[in-house]
Amino acid sequence: MTWPVNPDAPEGSHEAKAPFVDNGTGPISPERYYSIEWMEKERNRLWARVWNWAAREEDIPDAGDYVVFEIGRESFIVTRDDEGRIRAYFNVCPHRGNRLVSDEGGSRPGGFTCPFHNWRFGLDGAIDHVTDRETFRPEALCRDLDLSEVRCESWEGFVFINMDKDAKPLLEHLGPLVEHARPYRLRDMRIMRRVRAVWESNWKIGVDGFNEAYHVHAIHPQILPVFNDYHAQIDLFPNGMSRMVTKFAYESPRMGGSAASPGLNAGLRATMEEVGIDPDTFAGSKEDVRQAVQAAKRVRAEQLGIDYSGFIDNQLTDDWNYDIFPNIQIGMHPEGVSMLYFRPHATDPRKFVFDVIVMMHPQTNPDIRPPAYMGLPEGSDISGREPVEVQHIDWREGGLGELFDQDSSLFAEVQRGIESKGYRGAVLSEQEQRVGHFHAELERYLAAD
Ligand code: FES
Ligand SMILES: [Fe+2]
Repeated sequence: MTWPVNPDAPEGSHEAKAPFVDNGTGPISPERYYSIEWMEKERNRLWARVWNWAAREEDIPDAGDYVVFEIGRESFIVTRDDEGRIRAYFNVCPHRGNRLVSDEGGSRPGGFTCPFHNWRFGLDGAIDHVTDRETFRPEALCRDLDLSEVRCESWEGFVFINMDKDAKPLLEHLGPLVEHARPYRLRDMRIMRRVRAVWESNWKIGVDGFNEAYHVHAIHPQILPVFNDYHAQIDLFPNGMSRMVTKFAYESPRMGGSAASPGLNAGLRATMEEVGIDPDTFAGSKEDVRQAVQAAKRVRAEQLGIDYSGFIDNQLTDDWNYDIFPNIQIGMHPEGVSMLYFRPHATDPRKFVFDVIVMMHPQTNPDIRPPAYMGLPEGSDISGREPVEVQHIDWREGGLGELFDQDSSLFAEVQRGIESKGYRGAVLSEQEQRVGHFHAELERYLAAD
């Protein structure tokens, strides 16, 4: 019971609605959001088996460039070897277990030297130098002394790692997203903003919250004038993946419908002005705005030299939000994408590390500005020439934008509520199908030995 954005979409096309998957209606057991045992199970059976996004290829252009990626209590070095291959290693020295690298990244063309006793490792992970080799008995040194390597595969410039040697290939895990994402050319986009905050809830409360638009009318009513939160298209894909397509430039039916508010609301007027339509001379009704915005964007694209040829009209206005199981969501727009990345806290199941990332095609033409929904501060450099630093913020002080600030305080309350002895577990509507789909896949991972 969800609505196709385009009822005429040809079967098999990327906008066609996927067949229904029945994941039930709950309840979802509450202890998964706070118990240490559950967190440990996730550590061993989920994070150790799933593809984790670790870096962008452009972060490490040359041999010896590296970034450190952390998830929970694990840490990895992602680097480029002398042959130009991207490789990833557990960030641990095989000698006495020291963290090999303690910064966030940099360049070490000569390889990695452990600061504890100066053992050295090549970019291929092989042991290069054992300090005072003559003081080890031969049997000590005939063990494997190389760095422990993990699998590393790329999609559109995103480098993912997997600790499980038997996991299915990354592209197979991503499924239909690989085809659906092609026109956006994510490989050519660059990160223009990356903000990180530690939020006070379990990571899954974050994933659940952003996987549905059902709460929008209650928590974010300010966007209802331009956002049809109700008639979303929800598609559930294999491997816990899903997407939700929601219409922008379209008033929510919760606003009261045409009879009660026949004219163009202020939000729709502003959306039109942003693409050069004068709302005062606009002849259509408010239901016509979305299509008018799509047409205007095509005209503007031609003037500015933006290539929209690979996109259908609905992609020019709507939010095509993909969930990459288990912890990434990407809102796709031709100009850029906004990504949400939810990582578990190292020790506390009541916290998670939240990254909000804006990526865009680099622009040097000052007439091409990022659309307002991207939340890029005025004056941001979008030339893509310089890599951006992660900006660390405190969630209590805000700074992620109004929508996120509303969610951050909400999720802390949800965390508190879920731990009540009086709570019996989530009950799901059909608007929350993605939540059910995510948890069904999570439970499959945790049940597998
Ligand atoms: S722990 Fe790394 S050299 Fe000893
Ligand atoms: Fe929200």
